[in-house]
Amino acid sequence: MKRTHTCGELGDALVGKEVLLQGWVDTIRDHGSLTFIDLRDRYGEVQLVFKKESKFFEKVREIGKEFVLEVKGEVQKRKAGTENKNLPTGSIEIVVDHLEVLSKSDPLPIDIKSDDASGDEMRLKYRYLDLRRKRLQQNLILRHKLLMAARQFFDEVGFVEVETPLLAKSTPEGSRDFLVPSRINRGKFYALPQSPQLFKQMLMVGGMDKYFQIARCIRDEDLRADRQFEFTQIDLEMSFPDQEDVQGVTENVLKRMLEAAGKKLDLPLRRMDYSEAMEKYGSDKPDLRFGLEFIDLTDIFRQSGFEIFKGKVVKAIKVSKPGFSKRDLDDLEETAKTYKAKGLVTATISDKFESNVSKHLTEVEINEVVKKCGAVKGDMIFMISGDRNTVVTALGKVRLKLGEKLGLQKGDSFLWVINFPLFAWSEEEKRVVAEHHPFTSPRKEDLAILESDPLKVKALAYDIVWNGEEIGGGSIRIHDIELQARIFKILGLSKEQAMEKFGFMLTAFRFGPPPHGGLALGFDRIIMNLSESKDIRDVIAFPKDKSGVSPMDGAPGLVDEKQLKELGVKIVEEQ
Ligand code: AMO
Repeated sequence: MKRTHTCGELGDALVGKEVLLQGWVDTIRDHGSLTFIDLRDRYGEVQLVFKKESKFFEKVREIGKEFVLEVKGEVQKRKAGTENKNLPTGSIEIVVDHLEVLSKSDPLPIDIKSDDASGDEMRLKYRYLDLRRKRLQQNLILRHKLLMAARQFFDEVGFVEVETPLLAKSTPEGSRDFLVPSRINRGKFYALPQSPQLFKQMLMVGGMDKYFQIARCIRDEDLRADRQFEFTQIDLEMSFPDQEDVQGVTENVLKRMLEAAGKKLDLPLRRMDYSEAMEKYGSDKPDLRFGLEFIDLTDIFRQSGFEIFKGKVVKAIKVSKPGFSKRDLDDLEETAKTYKAKGLVTATISDKFESNVSKHLTEVEINEVVKKCGAVKGDMIFMISGDRNTVVTALGKVRLKLGEKLGLQKGDSFLWVINFPLFAWSEEEKRVVAEHHPFTSPRKEDLAILESDPLKVKALAYDIVWNGEEIGGGSIRIHDIELQARIFKILGLSKEQAMEKFGFMLTAFRFGPPPHGGLALGFDRIIMNLSESKDIRDVIAFPKDKSGVSPMDGAPGLVDEKQLKELGVKIVEEQ
């Protein structure tokens, strides 16, 4: 038989009507002469009543949790005082006069009522059961709603969704590739795409003008709370745009997606220079839900007698009356040290400046620090000295910890970080490397110093940040092969190497490539923030565990000799 309604849609309006329902047994309560079963489906729960005189009363005793039932019965108003205000269907119940067990269930190996993520592995092994959890279902529904909103928006503003290959050549995102051996082309490998980057640029050369894709991206990276091998991007590319055009489309699609989740977004979003973000917050994705800006004390200690501060970059954060325990302070110092600071100097302002370094500082220095920080009695000042990079990075992490400890991470903050450097210095490789990817365009005004002072060159690149999390990034691309050749040269790529790696792209750019640019939003991270999930696995239907394994289906698995032979692949034991 067909169900007439879902479990969640029943209410007073249907009182007196007969309904046929199908769903899972959520709870069973045996009250002697009456048995209650809550029947559940994706849409909600409803209470079934089995009376002693019912011909099913004995059969009900054999029913267990998570059995799948089909029931028919009349919708009745619950007795006054027995309504369940917490349940949308709590004012009614179904008095059952037909019952069929559609399928039975063994006792569940995991608790689907609790959101306690302990026993993660078991939850992943029985993911199909874990998916019966309301929270996970809601997260998947949220994904769907946002994707619908995004597609609708892009369609309205003239973007065309184009699918790009999964079997591709390596793209230059900079993570490790997942490789797929080719059977027909023995000894050769495809790479699963880290993003559709090169293809979407080719689509611009192909005249598509405005492209988007809900794109699966695959990167062999260490897995973390906000990272999976496979994730989803809302990927876009436009022809003839300036940076503001790309940012405008991105903000608007984000606004539409958030609206689909009932959240308002005021546009335009704030723009902040990369250099300001680093100087004031020690991060290229600052969490601006709270202030705690860095205060620069470098000038005060230029000629100091205190060796640890003298001539170094010294930056501070002032906190108003935090009331921290010794443990909090140890924890903060630990954070500073984890990020390579030599230590964290702490001062408390009481009647005087109380700090374990007070005796090394002059009266003038102390007064200037207090004045520059605007500190008053009860405040604390946290200081780090050293080279600029270490100071801003470590103090940035201390700042986040302070925000967490003080409960300041409330509300929402969105911003764009712009004017990133084009290149970075790789200590490891002792050479200049691309900060984003090698097709990112430098700003016009910096072209003159490209070769002479590459680390000063700013890129037409932009990241979008939500509550201290990078949720997207993009750039205006280079479309001029002469300029591209200069960039490759600076990156130490010979013409031959560039041709070998990106040959098809360089060839394509000989045939009238339009100026173009784009961006990709990290969709899973957006859903994480919206659903306040701490773990990316809570927003993906079938994720991998921390070691990259899928405990449910056992991937990755061994393959038989015959398959390997066909592919010309031999497994060599680690030496
Ligand atoms: P990028 O590498 O910055 O840019 O990726 C864009 C966004 O994708 C998200 N993201 C991830 N989410 C989950 N798991 C991961 N492993 C992961 N890696 C990245 C982040 C990030 O901001 N082709 C360029 C975009 C462009 O220039 O148009 C690109 O892929 O939220």
